[in-house]
Amino acid sequence: MYFMKDIVRDGDPVLRKVGTKVKFPLSEDDKNLAANMMEYLVKSQDEEYAEKHQLRAGVGLAAPQVGVSEMMASVLVPNDDEPDKPLLKITLINPVIVRNSVQRAALSEGEGCLSVDKDVPGFVPRADRITIKYDDFEGNSQTLRVKGYPAIVCQHEIDHLNGHLYYDKIDKKEPFELDPSTVVIS
Ligand code: NI
Repeated sequence: MYFMKDIVRDGDPVLRKVGTKVKFPLSEDDKNLAANMMEYLVKSQDEEYAEKHQLRAGVGLAAPQVGVSEMMASVLVPNDDEPDKPLLKITLINPVIVRNSVQRAALSEGEGCLSVDKDVPGFVPRADRITIKYDDFEGNSQTLRVKGYPAIVCQHEIDHLNGHLYYDKIDKKEPFELDPSTVVIS
């Protein structure tokens, strides 16, 4: 289980490295990494537990954020209507975005990151729909199509695996300017 003290913060070079591909069969270390990353997300979304242990709530966590420069990230997008059925709960191993929609999307509130303590305001334009190829725990290649908020979260996490942080994509001069065709997700 990770706590905030285990989360690598902006300025650490590991956040700017391209992760190495994960090999199969998964090592015990990699299995534990996956389990611990998902556990962080689950616990961080439990208000009582999160407050007690001072966890910042997260919907995604990438291996470089816990100091491991590997292509693995966990995503847990909650479902407010049915708490037992998250909108997306997945560990992406060696993910590659193989298709981006022309349609762009951005979160109305901008993005945040467990590794970035300061708030960087501005829209983060991304693809509204993506197709991801990734490996599952057995090393089988899988395809995932996502749109809207879950697609934004996946892009944010896959960026981490390639050394990118969300604020890299904010327009420095006009942080709140968006192409008018962009879908704004609230
Ligand atoms: Ni992040």
